[in-house]
Amino acid sequence: MILVTAANGNQGGLLIPKLLEAGADIRACVRTEASEAQLRAAGVADVVVGDLADPLTMTSAMEGVESVYYVGPTLHPNERTMGFAAVDAARRAGVRAFVFSSVLHAITTDLIQHVIKRDVEEHLLSSGMDFTILQPANYMLAHRLKPAFERGVFRLSWSLERRQSLVALDDVTDVAASVLLNGERHAGATYELAAPGSFTGHDLGEIITAVVGRGIAVEEIDCETFLTELYGDVDRHPYQARLMRAISARYSSHDFVGNANVLTWLLGRPPTTYAKFVRCQYDIHRRRVDAQRAPGV
Ligand SMILES: NC(=O)c1ccc[n+]([C@@H]2O[C@H](COP(=O)([O-])OP(=O)(O)OC[C@H]3O[C@@H](n4cnc5c(N)ncnc54)[C@H](OP(=O)(O)O)[C@@H]3O)[C@@H](O)[C@H]2O)c1
Repeated sequence: MILVTAANGNQGGLLIPKLLEAGADIRACVRTEASEAQLRAAGVADVVVGDLADPLTMTSAMEGVESVYYVGPTLHPNERTMGFAAVDAARRAGVRAFVFSSVLHAITTDLIQHVIKRDVEEHLLSSGMDFTILQPANYMLAHRLKPAFERGVFRLSWSLERRQSLVALDDVTDVAASVLLNGERHAGATYELAAPGSFTGHDLGEIITAVVGRGIAVEEIDCETFLTELYGDVDRHPYQARLMRAISARYSSHDFVGNANVLTWLLGRPPTTYAKFVRCQYDIHRRRVDAQRAPGV
């Protein structure tokens, strides 16, 4: 049995179908009944609904599990406690292999969510369980492209001059599936996962422009504006605001660059490029627009 946490999230949504297709016995952990219903409809028979911050949820999720794919939910104030508790609960339950989805350059001390993942990595290393650590670069995310496709503006809340490496979640979850299904080959490994290249905001804008065939403006929005757009009342989200401010500051003062060698080796094929990702998302966008325009819809 493989336990997948954050199972209806960015990674989980892609990973679960891959594991199901491979015939794996899966348990999914989510927070809401809405996600539970979606996962059951997709063919997951065993779904634990609960808060990862609750030790009881963690304990019952780990029961009878052989391998864990642990993804901590995005920007959660209890991320460190949850990660430590997951490792401890897995060890207590006799889990054989713990695969932790961490982050590229978890040693970066001025990024709060990186330091937390570094600490969870260390806790895992000390647990005595077989471990594999995946360190994805910044995700290529479809929702970041929406304003570019709809309004012709690509926006970032950090400097447009700094370079970043990215990674496609389809590639990350191909690796995760392979690691979970062939655990022993990957025991004790830490893998940095980045697609080829590193790009400034301007570079990304040029790639999107080439795909959509019309000029896409690139805009830097300051972090406070970004936070207000995201949360409305920012004061109600002090933890998330602190993290996002740290991200904007770090990404505005330093590049965030990885290397594609490890990902290429793990996939046994070239990783998805940003251009390919944008092409794929633009096709989806155009099909959606066409469907909305279709008569009778
Ligand atoms: N964004 C990036 O570029 C990037 C890059 C590298 C690493 N990371 C790291 O990747 C991780 C996030 O991965 P992701 O984007 O795949 O996950 P995600 O989309 O944030 O995960 C959402 C899933 O987590 C579940 N969830 C949320 N809070 C929960 C809680 N308290 N208890 C139980 N389940 C909960 C949700 O359940 P419901 O569906 O029921 O709500 C949902 O299924 C974060 O640790 C982030 O720092 C992100």
